[in-house]
Amino acid sequence: MKRIAIFASGSGSNAQKIIEYFHKNKEIEVSLVLSNRPDAYVLQRADNFEIPTHVFDRDEFYHSNEVVKLLQNLNIDLIVLAGFLWLVPEGLIKAFPKRIINIHPALLPKFGGKGMYGNKVHKAVIEAGEQESGITIHYVNEHFDEGEIIHQSKYKIDKGDNVDMIAYKGQQLEHHYYPKVIENLLKKYRNN
Ligand code: GAR
Repeated sequence: MKRIAIFASGSGSNAQKIIEYFHKNKEIEVSLVLSNRPDAYVLQRADNFEIPTHVFDRDEFYHSNEVVKLLQNLNIDLIVLAGFLWLVPEGLIKAFPKRIINIHPALLPKFGGKGMYGNKVHKAVIEAGEQESGITIHYVNEHFDEGEIIHQSKYKIDKGDNVDMIAYKGQQLEHHYYPKVIENLLKKYRNN
């Protein structure tokens, strides 16, 4: 069995798609959902599928080894960030080298970095007059949105598209590709 842990700070629509995708899978499971926010809707979504959850605060995440120990005890193979807004500490990255991935709602390296999340990204894309945008799935390193790119896909921005419209186009791609990219990565890890 390959095991996924999902980190999310908010609604968790991507987390939901990933959980649904692997729900009946005999080789891959979502073993844990973690959040920095006790009121994040993603926790409810995990409960609905009887997936264990863990909420941590800044102190635990940045000044203790508790989260790393929890993930190691559960034999987690892949950490998936899905709308997780805190920087991942070095200790966690070192404990899971090339085993942490993130999804970003734009074509990195454009429109990334600290504070660039959700609709802020889409607003910047529109203000820059871009004719296309997309999604990026990438490995996580110590800097926001800078790790090696694993997958990108694009959509066209039509004249008159507003933030909600391009957010919707991006979300459709995210929901489609994130579970498949995760599956492919875990298949590659199978013999490691
Ligand atoms: C997703 O669109 C993801 O790309 C974005 O947060 C959203 C989470 O939505 N992440 C970032 O902007 C990271 N910089 P969700 O909670 O519905 O899955």
